[in-house]
Amino acid sequence: MKTINFSAENGIATLTLDLPGRSMNLLTPEFMADLDEAVDRVAADDGIKGAIVTSAKDAFLAGADLMWLVNQFDSPATPAERLESNMALSNVFRKIETCGKPFVAAINGTALGGGLELTLACHHRIAAKNPSLVLGLPEVKVGLLPGAGGTQRLPRMIGVQKALELMTQGTHLRLDKALELGIVDAVVPPDELMKAANAWLDGSPNAEQPWDKKGFRIPGGGGAMHPAAVQTFIAGSAMVARETQHNYPAPLAILSCVYEGTIVPIDTGLRIEAKYFTKLMLDPVYRNMTRTLFINKGLADKLARRPEGVPKLQVKRLGMLGAGMMGAGIAYVSAKAGIDVVLLDRSVEDAERGKDYSAKLLAKQLERGRTTQDKADALLARIKTTDNYDDLADCELVIEAVFESRDIKADVTHKTEAVISDTAIFASNTSTLPITGLATQSKRPGSFIGLHFFSPVDKMPLVEVIVGEKTTDATLAQALDYVQQIRKTPIVVNDSRGFFTSRVFGTFTNEGMALLKDGVKPALIENAAKMAGMPVGPLAVTDEVTQELVHKVHVQTAADLGDDYDVPSAIDVAEKLLELGRKGKRFGKGFYDYPEGEKKRLWAGLAELYPPAAEQPPVEEVEKRLLYRQAVETARCIEENVLTHPADGDIGSIFGIGFPPYTGGALSFIDTIGVAEFVAECDRLAKAYGPRFTPPESLRQMAARGEQYYPRADKGAERSAA
Ligand code: NAI
Repeated sequence: MKTINFSAENGIATLTLDLPGRSMNLLTPEFMADLDEAVDRVAADDGIKGAIVTSAKDAFLAGADLMWLVNQFDSPATPAERLESNMALSNVFRKIETCGKPFVAAINGTALGGGLELTLACHHRIAAKNPSLVLGLPEVKVGLLPGAGGTQRLPRMIGVQKALELMTQGTHLRLDKALELGIVDAVVPPDELMKAANAWLDGSPNAEQPWDKKGFRIPGGGGAMHPAAVQTFIAGSAMVARETQHNYPAPLAILSCVYEGTIVPIDTGLRIEAKYFTKLMLDPVYRNMTRTLFINKGLADKLARRPEGVPKLQVKRLGMLGAGMMGAGIAYVSAKAGIDVVLLDRSVEDAERGKDYSAKLLAKQLERGRTTQDKADALLARIKTTDNYDDLADCELVIEAVFESRDIKADVTHKTEAVISDTAIFASNTSTLPITGLATQSKRPGSFIGLHFFSPVDKMPLVEVIVGEKTTDATLAQALDYVQQIRKTPIVVNDSRGFFTSRVFGTFTNEGMALLKDGVKPALIENAAKMAGMPVGPLAVTDEVTQELVHKVHVQTAADLGDDYDVPSAIDVAEKLLELGRKGKRFGKGFYDYPEGEKKRLWAGLAELYPPAAEQPPVEEVEKRLLYRQAVETARCIEENVLTHPADGDIGSIFGIGFPPYTGGALSFIDTIGVAEFVAECDRLAKAYGPRFTPPESLRQMAARGEQYYPRADKGAERSAA
């Protein structure tokens, strides 16, 4: 046994989970085989009366090895073989509870997914009072369900409704809540954990689970057997359908497992669970979500794109130019990460207004008990307001978020460079102006970079890092260090108009307006976007960024590019609304009306401006236009080397643009459809709606060569994690 240390003393066996060479215990095929062997040993040895399962690492067991899980999608195994292999772990857990000897889980640290399921299969659970310990079944977040007995044991322990809530949301529980729910039986100080586990076994406990006893009833009733439980399933299915729009199969599969599995004996229930688990493992949603949201996002957080050999930068003092919406947010997240911030605006009063933003956020957190007065005071004390550039002298990094105007940005760049040190980095938070152009105003363009934040900064996890033509590797490396310091996720892109995220986001809003021009009813456009999985419809989101801004960007781009400008096909729609004074949400009206104290409503006047066609397209066609348009633009960003790695495109499209997470991002979306099929469909869309859908040449070539953005796992998985 390589992954479990087996020892026996005074008739009690201790199985200590300890995966060699890993910082955490994970469920791997090797671990499953070792556990099987260990349980057999306990069962067969007459000298052993019971066993303790614990871990040698900080966490108890954190769930499956995600890399292994992702690669399973391309496994050549047949569905029947997959079903059997998915039953394997469940069978070992079942053996624990039926082998006749009592098992106690001594939960020393976090137990998630298969880790918690292992403890549920034990006859008793004692946890160490460890403040960082969490318990949960988060499989739904990677598009799966708890496939090692979780969907069967949890409802049998705590009732159908509570179990469904935890499993369909993937909630992480703190110990007090887990104890209250009855998921753990006792909580003891960490140094008494093993003593307590031994003491429980010394009490000659019964080695039978409640659900294996005659006459067992599920608390509150199971499946269709109890009116309250039936209500739970009816309401649960409706809620899941509304929240997932049927794009995420896992929550419904969890409901089915519990509904079907809790009216039959547990052995049958476990087979039902394995059947649904296998079905989910054959669906690309789990592969896409796991790869982008966990594996590749994890790598981005660890700065996978950081050039090597550059000393790590720890920003102690940040200069923040502009204390408007963005500057105020960046100042807050930086101060929260322990950085001293010099917040500069045109006047101290303006800067103070920016600092007030932090004060307001903190007041809210205090009200909700999420921070303490001391912590809030300390954070605010780190933000110093000023209108004097001399105060920037010691900053290692200065970020500008002044008005989106080249002249103003040039002016603040000159004034800053006059006072900062030669090694300091200057970053622009511009959302549209190419970095290389802005850097021409810098005396040291090598130290000039784009750090594009998203609004609201304190909530949005992404920062798009833009490398200008002259930006050095050292500047990139240290800008990434700062992004990590403030605990955001970076993607790295090369300079281009609108970079990656603003450019693709623009195609989404434009397509919404193009649909309107084509006579598609506004409600159909907005609903189709949501059904496709976008968080907000294209018309609503245009109102949010404002028609005014859309127009400004258009004018600036036209002036910069002249004849080279590929004018957005529906810019006239935004201009028309602007002309009518419907400038956007901030101004009280746009595509929607925003009556005081009421929900927004689509503006009835749109029907006159853009009369609906007599025949409306099927919703699938509208969804397709909205998603394919973004995906084809992302493919162009790869062709033009704006994106150098598919993972950046996928992470950026989900966290920066709101592309639906179930797709794994815009490029995984193309892979999942099939590159050749996607190209053919884009050709059809181009013919029907315009050349903006024409697929880039490189994508055609990929289709011809049978390639995709992420090679199949059975053909070498290196790039899938890159
Ligand atoms: P804002 O209008 O809320 O704030 C701009 C701030 O800059 C104001 O407080 C203004 O007083 C200050 N300012 C103007 N000229 C100045 C000067 N010469 N010296 C010092 N301070 C000066 O604008 P917002 O929305 O915060 O945008 C700022 C920048 O961030 C723009 O470049 C914008 O394109 C970019 N951006 C905006 C996003 C958004 O969602 N609003 C998202 C990402 C980037």
